[in-house]
Amino acid sequence: MVAVAILAAGKGTRMKSDLPKVLHSLGSKTLVERVLDSLDGINVERCLVVVGHQADLVRSRLADVTINGKSLEFVEQTEQLGTGHAVQQVLEPLKDFEGDLLVLNGDVPLLRPSTLQSMLSSHRDAASAATLLTAQLSDPTGYGRVFCDESGDQLAVQEIIEHRDCSPEQRNNNRINAGIYCFRWADLSAILPNLSNDNDQQEYYLTDVLAQLRPAIAVDVEDPQEIWGINDRVQLSAAYQVLQQRIKEKWMRVGVTILDPASVTIDDAVELVADVVIEPQTHLRGATKIAAGAIIGPGSTVENAVIGADAKVLHSVVMDSEVGPSTRVGPFAHLRGNAVTGEGCRIGNFVELKKTTLGDRTNVSHLSYLGDATVGNRSNIGAGTITANYDGVNKHKTVIGDRTKTGSNSVLVAPITLGDDVTVGAGSTITKNVQDDALVVARSRQMIKPGWRLKSRPSTEKPSGKSQ
Ligand code: UD1
Ligand code: CA
Repeated sequence: MVAVAILAAGKGTRMKSDLPKVLHSLGSKTLVERVLDSLDGINVERCLVVVGHQADLVRSRLADVTINGKSLEFVEQTEQLGTGHAVQQVLEPLKDFEGDLLVLNGDVPLLRPSTLQSMLSSHRDAASAATLLTAQLSDPTGYGRVFCDESGDQLAVQEIIEHRDCSPEQRNNNRINAGIYCFRWADLSAILPNLSNDNDQQEYYLTDVLAQLRPAIAVDVEDPQEIWGINDRVQLSAAYQVLQQRIKEKWMRVGVTILDPASVTIDDAVELVADVVIEPQTHLRGATKIAAGAIIGPGSTVENAVIGADAKVLHSVVMDSEVGPSTRVGPFAHLRGNAVTGEGCRIGNFVELKKTTLGDRTNVSHLSYLGDATVGNRSNIGAGTITANYDGVNKHKTVIGDRTKTGSNSVLVAPITLGDDVTVGAGSTITKNVQDDALVVARSRQMIKPGWRLKSRPSTEKPSGKSQ
């Protein structure tokens, strides 16, 4: 049985923020959510989060998170007296627990689930009382140093000494403590109450227990990036780059083309397939799904959207919407609020679609706004067509049939229905429903007064016909 304690009580002073450190976003998730993600595949019996600084905020932001179908348990550490003191807070809630306790820092967001799983199996295979993740860093400054006996097949831990408590010679040890541990709870809980704070920071260090638990083993991680702790915004952005690199590499191996990965960002939950092309300066966010042959970008943002096969989205924004197969969007179009296009549509320059459904092969090519509208198949919405859908209080629907054409600068005052095969004259303001097959023109007639300019001016001002 595995219980987890996530240490998340600290303020994170170096973030220089009103927000507690563990709630800072790293892409689409907070730091602490990413730590919880690293528990994937582990059969967690109980998951306790030690909160302190802005405890209520952390609690409320994690209220809906479950692990193995169970809610998180929050334990308050009212004063932050050190990592050992933080783990002491779970003594009471875990007093009847038997099994292993996994301790994770709330600010270590890059840990892969496979790394935790293999640490757990090493722990079990060695029947260890304590197992910790370590890494050998070229610059170990700031981390606790792990001193081991390397003579056996395993790294037997002797003790951990915090950087600030190390002698200059001890600082040459480059094996560092990642702050990720697995303890046999019966052994840890027996000695945890006896920690002392006799050290440079006068804190109760969790690391002190490693000198007392036997056997204790260290497991070096292969990829030291995984154990990066985030203390400031520079490290936050470096961690983001690592996550992005992992995501983009994953999709490139699946068969997605991303020629300029440095200018592209892709959220964790995005789903791509082989033969999607992501052009530069493009951002894929939320629960976006893109089908084969689609070309997204350059310069597009696609969020919570479904993009059909062979569609193109050029310099455009698509949010909470669906682009049908072989539809071309952009440049400079904006689909939002559940806009849905059919197959082979064309959504062109400076067009906004909101909560609008288009049938197949319907074009809205320039300078139009369609909101709360339904348009059939093979219709053509002329340049500058606007659905006047909002009367200042309520939104109203526009319904347009198949093969209907609106002239340039048409205003369709909703609620309104245009049938099939309707033609709307340019510049019309349509306020009444139009039946199938009709031509509708609703604008003032053109009036011509021949010779008007000459008559309206005194004869002395007649132009000479020559420029001066
Ligand atoms: C700790 C380790 C160090 C290790 C490093 C890895 C100790 C004494 N040192 O140092 O060996 O190399 O992590 O990143 O454990 N926290 C609480 N309550 C407290 C203090 C801390 O919840 O009273 C939480 C913090 O919010 C943070 C985590 O524990 O999530 C680690 O605390 P931090 O102060 O950052 O420890 P380090 O000095 O980094
Ligand atoms: Ca620290």
